[in-house]
Amino acid sequence: MEEGFVAVAKVGELAPGEMKFVAIERERIVLANVDGSFYALRDVCGHRNAPLSRGRLDGHVIECPLHFAQFDVRTGKLIDGPISADVPSYEARVEGDTVYLRR
Ligand code: FES
Repeated sequence: MEEGFVAVAKVGELAPGEMKFVAIERERIVLANVDGSFYALRDVCGHRNAPLSRGRLDGHVIECPLHFAQFDVRTGKLIDGPISADVPSYEARVEGDTVYLRR
């Protein structure tokens, strides 16, 4: 894998529709499998810092567990909720059976 990418999970760890907490150094990240494609966002809702990995994933919409802000997990863009901030996203790539994120 190209320099700058870090292995964070095996493809088989997440079925489509599932998400999982991963970390790169001290950065908290939620990794999601949407129909076989992998996406990653910072695992911190910008409203009151709730972990999005404890929320719900419905298609490409990830919902905060605390006050239910919704974001597009593919981009981190806010869809709806009590805030105006998007969530930072990470570039994800799959090579072989491993999911990598750009650090
Ligand atoms: S902490 Fe996420 S919507 Fe309030």
